[in-house]
Order: sequence, then C-alpha cells, then structure tokens
Amino acid sequence: MTSLGLLIWIGVGIVLQVGLFLGISFWQHWQSYSRLKQGQPDGDEAMTTASPRTEEVAGWSGFRPFKVARRDIEDPAGQICSFFLEPEERQLLPSFKPGQFLTFRLEVPRADGSGSEQITRCYSLSDAPQSDHYRVSIKRVPPPPQSGHPPGRSSNFFHDHVQVGTTLQIRAPSGHFYLEPGSAPVVLIAGGIGVTPVLSMRNWCQGRQPEREVWFFYGVRNSREAAFAAHLKAVAAANPRVHIRLCFSDPLPEDQPGKDFDHRGRVDVNLFRMELPLKPFHYYICGPTPMMESLVAALKDWGVPDTHIHFEAFGPASIMRQKPEAAVTAPAGDITVSFAKTGKQARWSPQSASLLEFAESQGIAIDSGCRAGGCGTCQTTIRSGEVAYRQTPDHDPEPGTCLLCVCTPRTDVTLEA
Ligand SMILES: Cc1cc2nc3c(=O)[nH]c(=O)nc-3n(C[C@H](O)[C@H](O)[C@H](O)COP(=O)(O)OP(=O)(O)OC[C@H]3O[C@@H](n4cnc5c(N)ncnc54)[C@H](O)[C@@H]3O)c2cc1C
Ligand code: FES
Repeated sequence: MTSLGLLIWIGVGIVLQVGLFLGISFWQHWQSYSRLKQGQPDGDEAMTTASPRTEEVAGWSGFRPFKVARRDIEDPAGQICSFFLEPEERQLLPSFKPGQFLTFRLEVPRADGSGSEQITRCYSLSDAPQSDHYRVSIKRVPPPPQSGHPPGRSSNFFHDHVQVGTTLQIRAPSGHFYLEPGSAPVVLIAGGIGVTPVLSMRNWCQGRQPEREVWFFYGVRNSREAAFAAHLKAVAAANPRVHIRLCFSDPLPEDQPGKDFDHRGRVDVNLFRMELPLKPFHYYICGPTPMMESLVAALKDWGVPDTHIHFEAFGPASIMRQKPEAAVTAPAGDITVSFAKTGKQARWSPQSASLLEFAESQGIAIDSGCRAGGCGTCQTTIRSGEVAYRQTPDHDPEPGTCLLCVCTPRTDVTLEA
C-alpha cells in the first residue's frame, strides 16, 4: 500500500470513530431528553428518589384527618408504641424525606377533669415512605421523679386513648433534619426514643440505596428499652453494608454481651474511633439533649466538618451551630420587649433562652407545642421591630409573624401577646 493509501485509511478510521462517538452521545442525550419529557427521573436521581407514585402526590396545607389502622408495641418495657396512620379519604400519600416529622393537633382531657383542651405535638416518621400509610412511634413520658407533676399529656393520651379507628388531625410531613441522598457513607446515632427519625433513614436506605454503607449506633440503658432491636439485627444480618451497634449503659443481669448488646457504655467518639473505618462519613444524631451536646462537640473536636454533622432534638433545642444572631447585634440589656395585648413591657435579658421563655417569665401565657420551631403553635404577630432566629425553624412562619420559641429580639420589639 502506498503512503497516500495508508493516509486515506487512517483518515477514514478517524472519521468513523468521531462519527461513532457523536452517534452514541446523541443517543444518550436523546434518551435523557425523552425521560425528562415523560416526567421520569434521570440517571442517579432515579436511584435515589422515592417511588414516583408517592413522590408526585402533593402535600396538603393545614390539618387532615387520618385513621389509626394499627398499633404495635415496640419495646419489651411496653413504653414505645407505633401508630399506623391511613388518610380518611384513602388517597395516595405524599412522600417525605427520611427524618421528617408529622404535627398532630390533639383534643386531650384536661388534667383537672374539666373537659378537654387542644394541644399540638410533633412526632417523627419512623419508617421509610409508603404510599398508603405513615408510621410514628411514641414513647410514654412519665412525670419527673418525685415532682408531683402530671405525666406527659400527648404521649399518654396516645398510649391510653388512641385506638385502632381513632381519627387524628395531622399536618403534612415537614422538617429540615433528613438524610441527604447521595452515596456518602453514613453514621446514624440514636439515643432512646431518638431512634425514630434515624430508623426511617436506615429503612429508606434499605429500599432505595441498599449498597450505601450505614453504621447505626443505638444507645439505651438495657434490653427493656431497646425498641426495634429484632428488626435492626435482622437487617444487619441480611445486608453486609449495614453495621448495627447496640450500646447498653446499664445492662440487666440477664443481658448478654455479643447477643443482646454489642457495647457496654454510652455512644461516644471513643467508640467511633474503635469501630469506624477512615472514611468521610456524614453523622446524623437524634437523642436526649445531654447526649447530643456532648457528641456534637466531640465530633467537631475529632475533626468532623460542621457540614457532616446533622442533628435534631426532641424539644427545646439548646445546641446551636453558632452564636444567636441577636447576641452579636443586640446591645445587651438595651432592648425593650412590649406585649400589646397584655400591656406588659420588660427589658430583654440575654439570659432568657427565647422570646417564648421571656414572655413566660413575665407571666404571659403563650400556647406552645414542640418549643423547637417545628409545630407553629407559638406563632405570634410582630407589631413592630425585628427578631432573629437562633436556628432555622422547621415550620415557616407567616409573613409578619415569628416563632417565639426559637426567636430572640434584634431591636425593640412589640408582639401581639
Ligand atoms: C421534631 C420532633 C420530633 C419528635 N419525635 C418524637 C418521636 O418520634 N417519638 C416520641 O415519643 N417523641 C417525639 N418527640 C417529642 C414529642 O413531641 C413530645 O414532646 C413528647 O411526646 C412529650 O410530650 P407530652 O405532651 O407527652 O408531654 P408534656 O405534657 O409536654 O410534658 C413533658 C414533661 O413535663 C412534665 N410536666 C408536666 N407538668 C409540668 C410542670 N408544671 N412543670 C414541669 N414539668 C411538668 C411531664 O410530666 C413530662 O415529663 C418529638 C419532638 C419534636 C420536636
Ligand atoms: S412551639 Fe412549636 S414552633 Fe414554637
């Protein structure tokens, strides 16, 4: 073959290769375009989002009636009960992000027996999204020892009065504490009843991303408190990417290490040092405030970036990522808070954790539910002035209002209370 012939063959080869490459690229783009046109998720998204059926169903505003379809006791002590909730209209349910919660408006008997009153409480969804029901798991809250106070109103109402067939008023799933999709390995950490949102995350992974590496550290006192233990052990046995560590701080004499629990003691960073491989884990934590306060600080000291630490408290949130805005901008002791309806006025004290507590300390009664920015019960109109949020609230306050439980004043402020 002459050198001209050789050159022609090389040229033809190159043209064919380029043509083939362009053809494949065009075909891939066309496929992607067709999927988008039909409203189907594309590529990675298809692997990580919830079922298109439930994903496409819109949420609802305000409260909607649900019927209790089933109740299950989840712990040997009988203090945690799951409630399976079906919409009364029997339509498909909107999906939710694993870790989010429901807000309930309940009509509970008054402690003094004089009729009933309305209260609002939040409960985390404790399973992966399903198209026909939601599940919440509620721990009975006793009175503080030797306090003489009545037991927790909502939780005991659920345990004692909410039966199969009871109708409950529920607001659509919400909340900013949820598992980010993606492939990052995760460490899920639960203390006590804080197991509910992280269990939802774990179960979601099992259905949507079974290949994702999940470590699950669950701290309770002993086997009587270990809810969902059989379920957790079964999923770990079935999936080598899931590692469950049950930690008992006060095991019963009959609790056997290696069988009933994996670690004697509390969940802490020393345990992570021993157990976790060196990987850029994301940490999701839910538990009692002291556990969260110590763990979040210890993880930061250990060098875990702030953006890899996600947490939620089931009550007044005392853990903050940074100082409240108001503490930076407000001249201490120089702010006046006025309450228009009651006609009261007082100097703001930075020692007051929130405007809600400040109002209560002035003898002003304000309805509250979660006291953590989740339920909207403490929403109050601002007549004048500005407030600052200590943390991003899960509930979006209406324009011109604020959530007193997670607010501090930024300037002199007049509230409709
Ligand atoms: C986002 C979020 C998610 C949540 N998820 C869950 C979940 O999945 N499962 C769950 O079980 N909980 C969850 N909670 C907690 C739940 O919302 C309730 O706070 C919890 O059930 C207690 O409510 P209660 O009405 O039973 O108790 P409350 O009536 O609010 O009482 C709380 C405590 O105060 C005591 N008390 C009563 N009167 C007084 C008084 N005068 N002075 C001092 N103390 C008094 C009671 O005895 C009780 O110990 C969540 C909370 C939030 C914010
Ligand atoms: S009490 Fe729930 S948002 Fe303030």
